[in-house]
Amino acid sequence: MNKVLQLGSEYFSSQFGGAPDGLWSAPGRVNLIGEHTDYNGGFAFPIAIDKRTTVAARARADRLLRVASSSFPGVVEVSLDDLDPDALAGWAAYPLGVAWAIAGGASGSAASRMSGVDLALTSDVPAGAGLSSSAAVECAVALALNDLWELGLDRQELARIGQLAENRVVGAPTGIMDQSASLLGETDHGILLDCQSLLTETVALGFAGAGVGLLVIDTRTSHSHADGGYASRRRSCEDGARRLGVGSLRALRPDDLPRAAAQLDGQTYRRVRHIITENQRVLDTVAALRTSGPGAIGPFLDESHLSMRDDFEISTPELDLAVASAQELGALGARMTGGGFGGAALALVRNDDARKVAAGITRDFARARYTAPHIFPVTASEGARREL
Ligand code: GLA
Repeated sequence: MNKVLQLGSEYFSSQFGGAPDGLWSAPGRVNLIGEHTDYNGGFAFPIAIDKRTTVAARARADRLLRVASSSFPGVVEVSLDDLDPDALAGWAAYPLGVAWAIAGGASGSAASRMSGVDLALTSDVPAGAGLSSSAAVECAVALALNDLWELGLDRQELARIGQLAENRVVGAPTGIMDQSASLLGETDHGILLDCQSLLTETVALGFAGAGVGLLVIDTRTSHSHADGGYASRRRSCEDGARRLGVGSLRALRPDDLPRAAAQLDGQTYRRVRHIITENQRVLDTVAALRTSGPGAIGPFLDESHLSMRDDFEISTPELDLAVASAQELGALGARMTGGGFGGAALALVRNDDARKVAAGITRDFARARYTAPHIFPVTASEGARREL
């Protein structure tokens, strides 16, 4: 057993005694490109990263759900019969929200197979950094319950369950990208998501062969999508779509921009322009990757950042500095990643330059008197899986 799994198993024993029935894990994600496009029915191109949440779980003979997390003190317990989305709060809302979302959709023999479960969570996905630590929890727990309760749900259904937990229980009106990345990731591949048809395609990144890699620059500034900024961007997009007479902004193309400019107020127009151009950039990035390799995608990442900074207005001074500094230090491309308002940026760098870029960004943050960033490489990894 590797060290992470051993820790997960030992943590389970320390909380609940004895050994778990199994261990499951799910990764966080970094979005390469395609931001705020998911809830607009658009395209996104995330990877699952090599940082994971592990859940050790054991079925119980009664109806009790008990959850423990090595990041927080105490065990939270609730009966399967008393799961109430409005009463779930704090860190336990993520795992218990998933149980609620699964239980609500189950009937007949599936419902009869649901028993109580003890769940113990350990994780090395940084929280609050925009790397979807919450989706990692949701997807690991969803997979564990799917197996223990023998529900036979497929990964797309599990992604929707994670999203429902996040939307209804945690109160963040997020899209389907994070859970899809965590469940569908593949080593050395990006996942092209079409959030309208929900079709997905894995695309080889070829980073190692090209001698390039990704650096995450966690600015260690907070972000929460249950706060107002994310929801207000979502409302602007829905408003723009309604005023332009389409079901979602996905229906629009760059040549619809003049009409949008004529019909919308300035702010809504800029929000809409971000989504329309970002969808196109996702497609352009994937096409460039396929025809010319990873060395060709940098300019799309750079443009994406400008669009988020100036049109969607979800960047922060720290994220802008991380991106500008990475670009000046020779990154092939850089952008903030995730929902914005804090969190992390990513930079595509030549492996030979990675140390220099990381050191330079740290120096620039110190000069600006910002909190020292946490900078680390990530690689595209396998999605959620049963470990033992
Ligand atoms: C958060 C949400 C996702 C997506 C991104 C922005 O990560 O959870 O659904 O909207 O922001 O692309």
